[in-house]
Amino acid sequence: MNQLAIRQMKRFRNEVTRFMMIYKFALDEMETKIEILQEEFQFLHEYNPIEHTKSRLKSPESILNKLHRKKCEISFESIREHIKDIAGLRITCSFLSDIYTIRDMLKKQTDLRILEEKDYIQNPKPNGYQSLHLLIEVPVFMSDRIEKVCIEVQIRTIAMDFWASLEHKIFYKYNQAVPASLLGELKEAADAAAALDRKMERLHKEIEKLKEEQPELTELNRIIINNQEFALPPALLELLDSGNEKD
Ligand code: GTP
Ligand code: MG
Repeated sequence: MNQLAIRQMKRFRNEVTRFMMIYKFALDEMETKIEILQEEFQFLHEYNPIEHTKSRLKSPESILNKLHRKKCEISFESIREHIKDIAGLRITCSFLSDIYTIRDMLKKQTDLRILEEKDYIQNPKPNGYQSLHLLIEVPVFMSDRIEKVCIEVQIRTIAMDFWASLEHKIFYKYNQAVPASLLGELKEAADAAAALDRKMERLHKEIEKLKEEQPELTELNRIIINNQEFALPPALLELLDSGNEKD
């Protein structure tokens, strides 16, 4: 390779890195938002609606393949416009209702813009696939500009995730041509997973009701934030007394 070719290659490599990094920053921001919601929810409701989250960046190779499939021009502009899942975040919840709770909490954040919502829970795919998909535009604050970056958020339950990961493996094992008998069984498994989700949701509601009726006695004079424990000084409790007097 001559010097010029090396310099051009370096410049191109830098451009791709810069392009991909912005999507990474958008994911970082979204993950922080989710962590904050998770911690707040834990505090308010004494339970955590999120089992786990997983983020990934699409590889340049898959990006190119997708461009090719969609018969789009090859340029950064075209990628930005046509490939909406370069940054992907998957949120796995415990219960069905948690999915919509998280969706609603994200909808209320004024810096986010929901570009698209696809509800494959209300309308499962013919193979049985279920999840809630959102395309969300996230502002990323760079040193000299604000970039609006689109990320794909998939929200699902553990049962939906279990099913989707198995289906994904089978789909690729059979090189995307799964035998009809297996397709039928996979659909049955998806229906069973959906039935389990409904049952768990019902049990969860019952348990929550019981918790409301018999609140457990917790240590009322201590709080824990960021794994640090703080005692509430008696002087603070006087605040409570003066507050009550006004009532
Ligand atoms: P893509 O070109 O694949 O992105 O199609 P689309 O833009 O119509 O996206 P859609 O919202 O339908 O699905 C996007 C993503 O959801 C996929 O990349 C998968 O991660 C997941 N997904 C969608 N359908 C299925 C499915 O049938 N099985 C599994 N395992 N995952 C799916
Ligand atoms: Mg997609």
